[in-house]
Amino acid sequence: MAEARSIAVLGTGIMGAPMARNLVRTGFSVRVWNRTHAKAAPLAADGAEVCDTAAQAADGVDFVLTMLGDGAAVESTMTGRGDNGPNVLETMRDHSIWLQCSTVGIDACERLGRLADDAGVSYVDAPVLGTRKPAEDAELNVLASGDDALRDRCAEVFAAIGQNTRWLGPAGMGSRLKLVMNSWVLAVTSAVAEAVALAENLGLDPALFLSTLEGSQLDTPYAHLKGEAMIRRDFTASFPSGGAAKDATLIVAAATSSGVNADVARAVLQKMRRAVDAGHEDDDMSSAYLVTVPS
Ligand SMILES: NC(=O)c1ccc[n+]([C@@H]2O[C@H](COP(=O)([O-])OP(=O)(O)OC[C@H]3O[C@@H](n4cnc5c(N)ncnc54)[C@H](OP(=O)(O)O)[C@@H]3O)[C@@H](O)[C@H]2O)c1
Repeated sequence: MAEARSIAVLGTGIMGAPMARNLVRTGFSVRVWNRTHAKAAPLAADGAEVCDTAAQAADGVDFVLTMLGDGAAVESTMTGRGDNGPNVLETMRDHSIWLQCSTVGIDACERLGRLADDAGVSYVDAPVLGTRKPAEDAELNVLASGDDALRDRCAEVFAAIGQNTRWLGPAGMGSRLKLVMNSWVLAVTSAVAEAVALAENLGLDPALFLSTLEGSQLDTPYAHLKGEAMIRRDFTASFPSGGAAKDATLIVAAATSSGVNADVARAVLQKMRRAVDAGHEDDDMSSAYLVTVPS
């Protein structure tokens, strides 16, 4: 029987924990590390080996998958800066592939790629589309980019966490498409928040907005997902406002540097920042509804 492939998952938050569980389920030998150890510890019951440092997790494995908050968190973890322990990239030299799945934007993606090159580590830019539930159900869409020669070796990892993988060319194209997709996701969420609030303030049952959309050419399942949560006032985080504000910042930067007048993205950024400032950083981004109707 072939030896189990091994992988280290660095970052076991909303997304990283279920991704690690699905890798265990599909037969990978999985090590996990999280800055806050208590968030990684429960994964021992699923069959993962919980490590004290990121470098310990990465030692000798076939793949290292990063699923951390932002580019700075990924960089400090991989280089051992800050309080994140020894240098992970040195541990990986010449044998393991780095699958960078966090949403970090274009500049950080390039910076991380240079760090990998300098360390002699193979780097695949692989942000994912999909939130908590698709991560739990192994139904993410992986937006992979990097050296084509790595494609076959990465396929079994991506198949374990997702339902679909797109290979998009040289490293960085995945991060670009991720920003494009999230510009749509954030705009829809923000527009739904305003439509629900407008319906309510005009004396309508906001459920009418969703039922009138249903089945029409204007409809999208995401409007129902987020709209129903807003109407229920259920802001349990799938995609927290803090992450949404971070992504909106990356989208505005990408739009500005590429010459797009991103008026909608700027308005979305303002709304998401307002949600964070009002204390909803860890609530779902649908809490943007709460700052759409001033109290
Ligand atoms: N949630 C979604 O719907 C979704 C969907 C697609 C992509 N993403 C992207 O996936 C990534 C993870 O998101 P998530 O929703 O899983 O977020 P999360 O639950 O907030 O997890 C963030 C992770 O990053 C770690 N982290 C943050 N700053 C760090 C630092 N300076 N050093 C080391 N570790 C640090 C956290 O560690 P602690 O536990 O110690 O804080 C935690 O493990 C983000 O880039 C996000 O944009 C999220």
